[in-house]
Amino acid sequence: MTMTTIWRVKSLSGDKLRLGLKEAADLLREGGVVAFPTETVYGLGADARSTEAVGKIFAAKGRPSDNPLIVHIADRSQLGGLVQPYSRLAAALMDRFWPGPLTIVLPVREGALSPLVTAGLATVGVRMPDHRTALQLLAQAGCPVAAPSANRSGRPSPTLAEHVLDDLEGRIDGVVDDGATGVGLESTVIELAGERLIHILRPGGITREQLLEAAPDAFIDCASSEAPEAAPRSPGMKYAHYAPKGRLELVEGNPGAVARYIRKQVTAARERGELTGVLAFEERIAAYDADRKFSLGSERELEAAAHRLYASLREMDAAGVQCIWSEVCLERGIGAALMNRMAKAAGHRIVRL
Ligand code: TXA
Ligand code: MG
Repeated sequence: MTMTTIWRVKSLSGDKLRLGLKEAADLLREGGVVAFPTETVYGLGADARSTEAVGKIFAAKGRPSDNPLIVHIADRSQLGGLVQPYSRLAAALMDRFWPGPLTIVLPVREGALSPLVTAGLATVGVRMPDHRTALQLLAQAGCPVAAPSANRSGRPSPTLAEHVLDDLEGRIDGVVDDGATGVGLESTVIELAGERLIHILRPGGITREQLLEAAPDAFIDCASSEAPEAAPRSPGMKYAHYAPKGRLELVEGNPGAVARYIRKQVTAARERGELTGVLAFEERIAAYDADRKFSLGSERELEAAAHRLYASLREMDAAGVQCIWSEVCLERGIGAALMNRMAKAAGHRIVRL
């Protein structure tokens, strides 16, 4: 057991806040593991140059060691020491989207990072989070910080410090608590080929539409929410992530048919004595009957659904819900990332009516 220190940013100010963040940054610099908020989800950070420190991330999360970590920086000037010279396209995307939820996979500079960070690949994913507290902490630490989402492997990513503590209290050195994260889903991970091709390895906070607008001449290829390929380019995509404890099934089709199907399933599950849950958009939530219902907000504002999804899955777990049905949304804008995560949470169980 490790003593987990909690710094509550919202109840500190002035010198006390500076001191708190300095303590957290010192811990990082000294090889500790500290969770911190970003604009996407909470990350679990460690000095990316130190194999001993990064090893603690894998141990605390129970994460498979063939899954590389994203490196977080506070300033573009840190990049030169970490990666090899990169394309104009990469620079343009950094100009446009950093700080922000875009991770760019670049050829790593040999010896710059612990091999645990890259999981033996010749590349590293780098991003600059768009979050005041995160940027202050990273700047203060002064080192590149490797940080996966701060959940136990296989659990939904944390969007509140409470989620981090539920999963990792006693296993990590500290948590910087700055309330709810913004986007609620992880960053978009991209890899570039030459000056014209963008592979979206993981859809996320920066949408395909935004990338196209920033790089109108580029071709963009996307991972979809379909079952993953055998050898995905992004190693993390092959793991059954984000799973709630209950069995989640997604239901696609016209609203009437979806509502009828879910009602029938809920009735059958109740007859088996199971606790039921439904995730649905605000427009139709009243049409459902289940032991626990969660509104994803309006289907015209999928940002709200992204913001809430992981917390809803965790609340289903906390309530002991055994089977969950969810509506789906269009894979447009942030809807692409949302469906990607929901499909994974459902183990790709999707009923098409
Ligand atoms: O929003 C985020 O990206 C959050 C916050 C904390 O920054 N971090 C996060 O990290 O989601 P993690 O470890 O849960 O997911 C990292 C993803 C994995 O799917 C991993 O396989 C992929 O990025 N990845 C990392 N480095 C890579 C590389 N060199 N090549 C391909 N994929 C890489
Ligand atoms: Mg993760």
